[in-house]
Amino acid sequence: DHTEAQAEFDAQIAAEGRIEPRDWMPEAYRKTLIRQIGQHAHSEIIGMQPEGNWITRAPSLKRKSILMAKVQDEAGHGLYLYSAAETLGIDRSTMTEQLIEGTARYSSIFNYPTPTWADMGAIGWLVDGAAICNQVPLCRASYGPYARAMVRICKEESFHQRQGFEILYELSHGTEAQKAMAQDAVNRWWWPSLMMFGPPDAESPNSAQSMAWKIKRFSNDELRQRFVDMTVPQAEHLGLTLPDPDLKWNEERGHYDFGEIDWTEFKEVLKGRGPCNHLRIANRKSAHENGAWVREAASVYAAKQAQRAAD
Ligand code: ACO
Repeated sequence: DHTEAQAEFDAQIAAEGRIEPRDWMPEAYRKTLIRQIGQHAHSEIIGMQPEGNWITRAPSLKRKSILMAKVQDEAGHGLYLYSAAETLGIDRSTMTEQLIEGTARYSSIFNYPTPTWADMGAIGWLVDGAAICNQVPLCRASYGPYARAMVRICKEESFHQRQGFEILYELSHGTEAQKAMAQDAVNRWWWPSLMMFGPPDAESPNSAQSMAWKIKRFSNDELRQRFVDMTVPQAEHLGLTLPDPDLKWNEERGHYDFGEIDWTEFKEVLKGRGPCNHLRIANRKSAHENGAWVREAASVYAAKQAQRAAD
């Protein structure tokens, strides 16, 4: 009986309980989770590309091994998230199809290019910093498998953020040219990082319902503000500036004020017209095609094992 099941679900949410895969849940709750977790998984997988671009050109063996480990962590995050989404009744191959056909969303941030080594620092510091602000509250999301996946992901993201900060610190305390390269990267990544949090609250169609369901715990604008407040003092410590003349401490609000975000740019990127959208999808598609033999070998092996167990 749906009314009774709905009442039980509502009571779980009200009591800060966890919804688990076998529990009854409203179809719209299932759908929004598949949407958000799927997009999140795709972001991790597509997010391997901007940094993968620098693995062969990292400035030292140590930097190279750190970067490789970081990109592998992102692959792992994608896999935990695809698994969490699968508990809701969609399979990974369907999600992958949607991604390579260009019908699934992934974070806008990964459609920007990485022309210099300093971009590795700016991605770690700003992009992973923004990801942490957004994702720490998701460790308390009402859907159990998603919340549990987020715990480990956040620990790894914190480490990534520190390594990005450290890259920029080294550069900004290096030669003039190195410092200029670090500043240029920060100038390019700052505004796109603020866009990661999504549209302003008044234009966020999913927020109210997702907050009522306790999937999201804070609104897009609240988390964006938290990120700005956290990042300004870190920029000072790095000796770098943030490219916003309107950025200043507001004593009354107890927060930093910041300038207007270019939402036209955000919308363009979401429509597939960012600087690297085509490249990201084309790379993902060819990686998928090149991996066909692995999937075939794995399923032939699995079938053989199953046959052996049955004999
Ligand atoms: N990039 C691409 N799409 C976005 C972005 C963004 N930065 N922000 C919002 N959108 C999309 C939403 O997915 C939604 O699209 P849809 O309705 O077609 O599915 C639409 O814009 C409207 O936005 P909201 O109503 O605010 O959507 P939502 O409530 O899902 O909030 C948010 C967006 C904050 C990104 C949320 O989905 C979330 O917290 N996701 C988990 C975190 C995540 O995916 N991080 C990925 C980047 S971090 C990393 O991977 C390192």
